[in-house]
Amino acid sequence: MAIQWFPGHMHLTRKAIGERVRNIDVVIELLDARLPGSSANPMLAELTAGKPALKVLNKQDLADPACTALWLAHYSSLSGTRALALDASVAAPAKALVQACSELAPQRGGMVKPMRVLICGIPNVGKSTLINTLSGKRAARTGDEAGITKLEQRIALADDFYLYDTPGVLWPRIIVARSGYNLAASGAIGRNAFNEEEVALELLSYLKTHYASQVGERFKIDVAPAMADEDLLEAIGRKRGALQGGQRVNLQKAAEIVIYDFRSAAIGRITLETPQEFAGWLQEGQKLDAQRQLRKDAGGLRRQGRA
Ligand code: G4P
Repeated sequence: MAIQWFPGHMHLTRKAIGERVRNIDVVIELLDARLPGSSANPMLAELTAGKPALKVLNKQDLADPACTALWLAHYSSLSGTRALALDASVAAPAKALVQACSELAPQRGGMVKPMRVLICGIPNVGKSTLINTLSGKRAARTGDEAGITKLEQRIALADDFYLYDTPGVLWPRIIVARSGYNLAASGAIGRNAFNEEEVALELLSYLKTHYASQVGERFKIDVAPAMADEDLLEAIGRKRGALQGGQRVNLQKAAEIVIYDFRSAAIGRITLETPQEFAGWLQEGQKLDAQRQLRKDAGGLRRQGRA
């Protein structure tokens, strides 16, 4: 697994969210509609367990609408949970958010018991953009480097509805290998933390199975699921003129083209995971995590025995 990811200050964020969540009625988690499972933070689920949850599938304009429908149905089937899809082109998103939160916590509302909502999301998921739209001003900075934003604030969406921004930065936590690649492809992970060629190969591996015709059309090549990922990357690089000495393909440049075209939806509206696929990956990831923990515990016991 080539994603080198060492998020800092998570313990501070954990503490701050833990304190804040006590006086919160609904937790809104912003997810990237192209990778809802991978862009969720497992620590947040733990800290906010039992609180009504609204999952917002953001950047829906970039995601495959059929997959977004699957994810919405999946979240809506969970108890105490609702979901809606959104993107930055929605000029007045407040109405839908207020309505969904009111349905989740009908006992709240009015000046005596105003609705208090916490909004969370990993970097680059579009939280600042949404908060800017909601607050009607350029309150938070947006930028393309993961984790640039951090201003704690409270926004009144109505006289009796307060939206609190998460204190601290909620970094993604990678338990599932595929999630690391999907987060890197989406732009949620700083570009120094991963190898572009490896991420592009993993991306192409998924795309050739699920979006072969879109890839073929974008790059004007024939794509078959049986094709090796390396051959596909090379064909794309050649087609796009990413060459170096001796007419060899510059694979780094080809990888950057693939990632850029995915991020900008030039290949089409793409989702990198379905609820079913993600559940399978998660199960596998948790099994490996448990095995790692067992090995670590066994090592600790051996060391104790020698001492
Ligand atoms: P963050 O606070 O969660 O870290 O995210 P932020 O709002 O800074 O958004 C990260 C990038 O995602 C920005 O692009 C932003 O424009 C883009 N974005 C936000 N919401 C949407 C959406 O619904 N759809 C699409 N397609 N993009 C969205 P950027 O290239 O970094 O900056 P900019 O020049 O576009 O502002």
